[in-house]
Amino acid sequence: MCGIVGYVGQDAVQEVLLQGLEKLEYRGYDSAGIFVLDQEKEGHLFKEKGRIAELRKIVDHSIPAHSGIGHTRWATHGVPSVVNAHPHQSADGRFTLVHNGVIENFQELKEMYVDEAALVGNTDTEIVVHLIGKFAKEQGLSGKEAFRAALGKVKGSYAFALMDSEEPDTLYAAKNKSPLLIGLGDDFNVVASDAMATVQITNEYVEIHDGEMVILTKDNVSIETIAGKTVERDSYQASVDASDLEKGTYPYYMLKEIDEQPAVVRNIIQQYQNEAGELVIPESLVESMLLADRIHIVACGTSYHAGWLGKHFLEHFAHIPTEVHVASEFSYHPPLLKGNPFFIFISQSGETADSRQVLVKVKEWGYPTLTLTNVAGSTLSREADATLLLHAGPEIAVASTKAYTAQIAVLAILSHVLGLKQEITSDLDLVHELGMVANAMESIIDEKQHIGELAKIYLRDTRNAFYIGRGLDYYVSMEAALKLKEISYIQTEGFAAGELKHGTIALIEEGTPVMAIITQAESASHTRGNIEEVRSRGANTCVFAMEGLERGSDEIILPAVHPSLAALLAVVPTQLFAYFATLHRGYDVDKPRNLAKSVTVE
Ligand code: G6P
Repeated sequence: MCGIVGYVGQDAVQEVLLQGLEKLEYRGYDSAGIFVLDQEKEGHLFKEKGRIAELRKIVDHSIPAHSGIGHTRWATHGVPSVVNAHPHQSADGRFTLVHNGVIENFQELKEMYVDEAALVGNTDTEIVVHLIGKFAKEQGLSGKEAFRAALGKVKGSYAFALMDSEEPDTLYAAKNKSPLLIGLGDDFNVVASDAMATVQITNEYVEIHDGEMVILTKDNVSIETIAGKTVERDSYQASVDASDLEKGTYPYYMLKEIDEQPAVVRNIIQQYQNEAGELVIPESLVESMLLADRIHIVACGTSYHAGWLGKHFLEHFAHIPTEVHVASEFSYHPPLLKGNPFFIFISQSGETADSRQVLVKVKEWGYPTLTLTNVAGSTLSREADATLLLHAGPEIAVASTKAYTAQIAVLAILSHVLGLKQEITSDLDLVHELGMVANAMESIIDEKQHIGELAKIYLRDTRNAFYIGRGLDYYVSMEAALKLKEISYIQTEGFAAGELKHGTIALIEEGTPVMAIITQAESASHTRGNIEEVRSRGANTCVFAMEGLERGSDEIILPAVHPSLAALLAVVPTQLFAYFATLHRGYDVDKPRNLAKSVTVE
């Protein structure tokens, strides 16, 4: 959360920064700002509450400036406002700083070093830039050395980009725990929270590691540790395709990403197939996982929900007992670890701080780790022993859709390969079954008009709603409820259908929408019973049933697919429900309030 971009080069910097921030807006969008330095060493600061579009309106494009920094914010310390928007400046205005992360000792630093009267806002970042200014002034340090001195005092997570008004041709950056990378160009260099921000102008990148600072000019990039040791590091080509980042003719990224799901499933099959058409997982990973007597899946949000399907696959296809953990809760009641545990981290972004802190701990304990992520080179990918990529393409909408289905597909493939090695899943033709799922997804997506109409009837005017299901359908219900609540703001619960009667059924009243998912033969009749229970108490029920289990009055019929893979399909109409309900209620589908896509604070 929070997006940073910095540029030093020859072009008009305002547009580079604004375009970069627009690409980073998924990381937070409650306020934004840019700072540019002209060749007369005069700084120009523009900050605005709300979206980048608001900032764009106030930026003066006529200023001849070729270096600058920008920021889009997801508030942690201090309310969203112009004063709390980044960039922040030192008391004398010499230094200007943008920051992503949380400074844990900011209170202490404030008391020890900073004159409270000089502060204009309430952010932790402002303390750091004052510190840099103070060190430069009182100790006569250069900008670089003052930055280094301040970094030595700061505790917490940060990605910083800093400008010193005395050096308009230089940009400073540093990183600890929060994402930041360098982009290399001809006659320019950039820093950004991720490659998406600058993929329009370069696809050559260099990683920055925790505890490093970087000095950029238009012709040169040098990396040093905070202690002052020079670091040499090769660049790499980013695999992001700039055209993937555009909405094209779609009104929202979320709809584009829902529509991409059949193609994503087919792409995953291809990516994990060898030339003989067999599904393959790197041998060393398979060997390591087959030594495990228990697997622990750790994740947050939508990825956590995918984790439950992972448990099903690992237990049914590979016969390995599996537990699923919410990352932010893990350290308060860690599982009792004995024997040979194996840890899987699931994270679309690969940057989620809650998941990463568990990974750090698990590595300290010395257990083997695997990350499933959509972003090659992301923190969770770099730090785990192994990575399996989701190959879903960039996911921009805050509400995750194609990453969820990609996670499920990759978990199924992984578990199936583990099963094959043990001769458990020899009868399952997973390539064929996943292909059937992709086709079935297409036919559901073709029904979007009808699904949109249903969403209007059921959800346009309601305050609350329920998704219910049993077994695998319960796992989908949890994800369906999260999707609906996070973008439409309808208070929605995903409930185990059988558990509803033990209290929560008290919330059902005349007209309460209850969506029931039925894809599993073993639980279908019980779920039908639960539908009758809520219907007789006034609920407005909507049934999503798989062919073969349907009844004439059901609202949405899902083509029949392999029951273990039904979640991949059943989730699609629930995503469309969330999308259309949000449209009907008049909210921004892609940028729901209070949320950010990449959550890099704990
Ligand atoms: C945020 C996003 C969710 C996402 C969760 C985990 O809360 O808004 O959509 O599921 O983070 O993200 P990850 O990148 O780790 O999958």
